[in-house]
Formats: sequence, structure tokens, C-alpha cells
Amino acid sequence: MGLKSERAILAQDIVKTFKKKGRRKYGIGPKITRDEYIHAVNGVDLAVHEGELFGLLGPNGAGKTTLVKCLSTLLLPNSGNVSINGHDIVEDPIAARECLGITTGGERTLYWKLSGRDNLKYFAALYGLSSEEADKRIDYLMKIMGLEERQHERIEKYSTGMRQKVSISRALIHDPPVLLLDEPTLGLDPSFSRFIRSFIKKDLNQKQGKTIVLTTHYMDEADQLCDRIAIMNEGKIVAVDTPEALKRKIPQDEVLEVKCLGHADFSGIGQRVYADSAEGVTIYRIHAENVEDIMSEVIQASHSARILSMNVSKPTLEDVFIHLTGARLTGEDDGQ
Ligand SMILES: Nc1ncnc2c1ncn2[C@@H]1O[C@H](COP(=O)(O)OP(=O)(O)O)[C@@H](O)[C@H]1O
Ligand SMILES: [Mg+2]
Repeated sequence: MGLKSERAILAQDIVKTFKKKGRRKYGIGPKITRDEYIHAVNGVDLAVHEGELFGLLGPNGAGKTTLVKCLSTLLLPNSGNVSINGHDIVEDPIAARECLGITTGGERTLYWKLSGRDNLKYFAALYGLSSEEADKRIDYLMKIMGLEERQHERIEKYSTGMRQKVSISRALIHDPPVLLLDEPTLGLDPSFSRFIRSFIKKDLNQKQGKTIVLTTHYMDEADQLCDRIAIMNEGKIVAVDTPEALKRKIPQDEVLEVKCLGHADFSGIGQRVYADSAEGVTIYRIHAENVEDIMSEVIQASHSARILSMNVSKPTLEDVFIHLTGARLTGEDDGQ
């Protein structure tokens, strides 16, 4: 029996590489392309404290899901060590798994021909709960999720949001102290997202004291919910801190957001400028130590466009991500 660890999750130097088979090509060009290796997780260290709500924030393809699967024993990493509540997942996988509940988004982890309730009964049996224990637990979960009335309907008749509620219930069936929630609000409409976020923060984390790792590519979600955030990009963690401390990493700490019809040239202003266009409207985010100092320059420089609005804001986690990686966090169709 190891010492009780203050660290609910401890991961050291996790590497997970996927091999992408080279394809044989015909016609012009080389006949065979080489096998490629994707370093999905490329040397990650992670320490999550007991009772912490910890975010893994990064764009699609950053390696979040792969990392979560490595933490949960669903995938075996090429190298590295993981322990959950002091249990090494290779030496003591059963004890580690008992401490863990996991939802991995995007996959069909439920049985669509079974009802919501029967799905949970099935998973309860897998975890060795007695029939009475299972019924009690499922009653509680169905009630708190607001699924009581539809619990006997097949999953295939549920909406995406309802299925996600069942997936989360599934992860909670054995009441584990540590939860890994992979993109818990992906593709949900706003009312379901709001419910799930509040349930994660208020019920699971604050009331029940569960340790939670949540992956997301929604910066607002990470910002609102998480005690600490690891920013992940291309298989690596590029920064770990509280949301507030991450935002302080930006050297100029005011942002002037200018919304224009058409394009303006703010490059001469000499500060970092990020632009985002959609349907003829461009939003520029101009970083400055003091926005007032650049206001008149901005107005002069925008003569070729029509300014629709100007706002002063503080840096967001998106700005932090751009500052650290040079890339953007979210796709254009992706705001929530
Ligand atoms: N089973 C797999 N086989 C091959 N490549 C994979 C597999 N799973 C993930 N990848 C690749 O690994 C990288 C990280 O993926 P993923 O962990 O799903 O990122 P995220 O969850 O942050 O979007 C991506 O380039 C993805 O295409
Ligand atoms: Mg993912």
C-alpha cells in the first residue's frame, strides 16, 4: 500500500505515438510514401491535486483525448508512469480503475437499443454493484440529471444532450473520487451545456469534492470552471497555472477589440494585432499597455473600413494561447 498521495493524479513523461501507415501511390510521384509517426502526446508531466478541478485546454488534435486515455488505462502509453490516488496504473490497475470514472466524447460508449436505465444497470453490474445498490444509485443519477421521465426509453430516442447526461452518469455509477471528462459539452446546445457545467462545478467538485480533469477546446468553459488549466498544443503542455495567472503572462495587458466592416491596416501601430474575419466583418484584437495611448492611431488607420464597434477588454485564454503558440485555439465555426 503506497502512501496516501496529495496528488490524485500524477503522470510523468507520458509519450504516445501513433503510426500512420504510408499509402501506396500510383501514377506520378513516389510509389510508396513512408510511414508517418504522430506524436499525439509528446512528453507530458501532470500533477492534479485532490479535490481540484483541472482543465486541459487545447485545439482539436492537441492530444487531449489521447492523454486522458493514457491516464485512464484505456490506452497504454509508449512510455511514462501514471498513478491515480497513489495506485500505479500498470502495477495496480484494478485499484486505479476503481478510483476512476471516465467519459470520452464522440464515441458510442452506450448501448443504443437499451434504455437509459438499463445502460446504467449494465455498467453498475460491471463494477460489481449489487442490484439494490445499483437501483439506489441509478435513481439518484436519473433524478439529478432530470432524466426520470424518459429513463425507460431507448438511448437511440434521446437527444445528444440526454445521451451525454447518461454518459456522465455512467462515469459516476461507482461513485469514484477521480473523474476524467473528455469534452463534456461538445456539440450540446446552450441549455444542456449550462446544466452540465454547473453540475460538474457545483455538485461534483464543490459539494462532493471529486477530483476532476476536464478537457475542452472552449476557452470560456476552462476559464469559468477550472482551478488550474494546462494549455496543450501539439502533444505538449505549454503552460500550467490558474486562469488568472495565465492571463497575466501576456505582456501588454489591455486589448482593444475593433469590429470593422471591411479591412483596416493596424500593422503600423506596432503592437500585436490579431484579426478574425467572417462575412465581411473583421474583428481585430490589438494588444497594448494602455489602450488610450493608441486610440487616435487606431481611428486614423481604420479610414479604409467602417468601424462598427470598439471595446476595451482584458486578455482571454485565447490571447494567452496565441501568445504562447502563435496558433489559434478555436476554429471559425466554433464559438460557444
Ligand atoms: N487511434 C489513432 N490512430 C492514429 N492517430 C491518432 C489516433 N488517435 C489520435 N490520433 C492523432 O493524434 C493526435 C491527437 O489526437 P487527440 O488526442 O484526439 O487530440 P484532441 O483530443 O486534443 O483533439 C491527432 O493528430 C490525431 O489525429
Ligand atoms: Mg479529443
